[in-house]
Amino acid sequence: MASAPFQNPRGTRDQLPEDLLLIHHLERVAHEVAGAAGYEEVRTPFFEETRLFMRSLGDTSDVVEKEMFTVPRRQPEGAPSLPPAEALASSYTFRPEGTASCARAYVQAGCAANAPAQKWYYLGPMFRYERPQKGRERQFTQFGIEAFGSSSPLLDAEVIGVALRFFQRLGFGPQLEVRVNTMGDPADREAWAAALREFFAPQFGANSERCADCQARFERNIFRLLDCKSPRCVELNQGAPDLFTVLGKEAGEHHQRLCAALGALEATVTEDRSIVRGLDYYSRTVFEIHYPPLGARSALCGGGRYDGLVEEVGGRPTPAMGFSIGFTPTELALAELNLPAAADLEDLRQARKPQIYVVAMTEEDRLPAMQVAEHMRLQGWRTLCDMRERSGKAQLKEAAKLEAPIALILGPDERATGSIKVRDMQAKEEQDLAQSALVEHLQRFFAGA
Ligand code: HAM
Repeated sequence: MASAPFQNPRGTRDQLPEDLLLIHHLERVAHEVAGAAGYEEVRTPFFEETRLFMRSLGDTSDVVEKEMFTVPRRQPEGAPSLPPAEALASSYTFRPEGTASCARAYVQAGCAANAPAQKWYYLGPMFRYERPQKGRERQFTQFGIEAFGSSSPLLDAEVIGVALRFFQRLGFGPQLEVRVNTMGDPADREAWAAALREFFAPQFGANSERCADCQARFERNIFRLLDCKSPRCVELNQGAPDLFTVLGKEAGEHHQRLCAALGALEATVTEDRSIVRGLDYYSRTVFEIHYPPLGARSALCGGGRYDGLVEEVGGRPTPAMGFSIGFTPTELALAELNLPAAADLEDLRQARKPQIYVVAMTEEDRLPAMQVAEHMRLQGWRTLCDMRERSGKAQLKEAAKLEAPIALILGPDERATGSIKVRDMQAKEEQDLAQSALVEHLQRFFAGA
């Protein structure tokens, strides 16, 4: 077949009705697990001012440096063009993640002053200009939760528990791994960064064996050297100073209490010092949930505490903790695990099937049949009516193919007497009913009486 003249952009995909069965399943599990723990849904715009992401994710994060979908703001006609830095700051960017928008909305709505304890969740598309590859797209869906107003490590454990429950409800078994670490408090990070700089300095300069990404990160974001996946860099990271050597007492206790609380979860939880996360806003707890068979891109979920972010975007100091789960890697993992079981999608499949198919036997019956169909839809029943003006026989064949349990047949005789033929498609039984008695009859039928 000749290729279509227009294609979807690279790194995106169309989700056709059959694909959406699984997506709807993921969405309902997300709503269910978030709701079960008392989180309420929020929706923020798909794009924000670029400067929000620069401020919150950090100028040196990969996302801000290389992956933003940015749209310049239109200048009034004839206005002089802005210098590049100003033009960038005043542009809009399609959200690469949801945490910054939630923090912005939290401050803007006055929550920090009036109702600091908020438990929010969101579901929706995010945009990153990444090289598309297995599990990575340029438009992808995240399910995330953000909990504001508590600095307790118990909240961290609750948040991690919600993420885990999402995967468990989808049928993931013991292959799932929760990896936790701490990024300490700001003063701890400063001391740690200094120690790392001293340790790593000899590895940079002429003939450096570090990869190009690490070369750039040494100056700009030293912690990211630690999560480099290049084999030589992993070797060169051996012996790097541990944050725990400089970790303050409070952050250390927070981490210990978190680890104790995580012991209660039914999951493999490991401490992983290489988890430093790619976004600047984290403090104390950071974690990822991995499905190792996916390889280098095995992270299904990432999150952590961001106690400084609300203040950074203009609010009062407010502790907060959250996670985001990517649907794309989750779908890949589910496919490998042969999940979900057909039975898990059956009710969604059933909910798409018509309950009633209204058949018009002759040309003159088409309009009255449409009116009957409209009436059935008003009652809340999923009702189809032929829109291709085919024969009565073809319509009945389609009703059977679509597994509609009821066909309502309207022909000249029924029209003349104000009746309608009701066909129970499974029992293959028909009866004539006065149209005025139809709704009550069908109510009894669908109630299983
Ligand atoms: P993140 O680690 O950048 O964290 O993304 C979270 C998850 O989104 C990843 O583990 C991955 O599953 C998915 N993801 C990221 N980029 C892509 C992509 N290009 N294609 C498909 N999936 C992707 C955050 O976004 C933070 N906002 C998490 C957070 C919430 N921290 C605190 N609260």
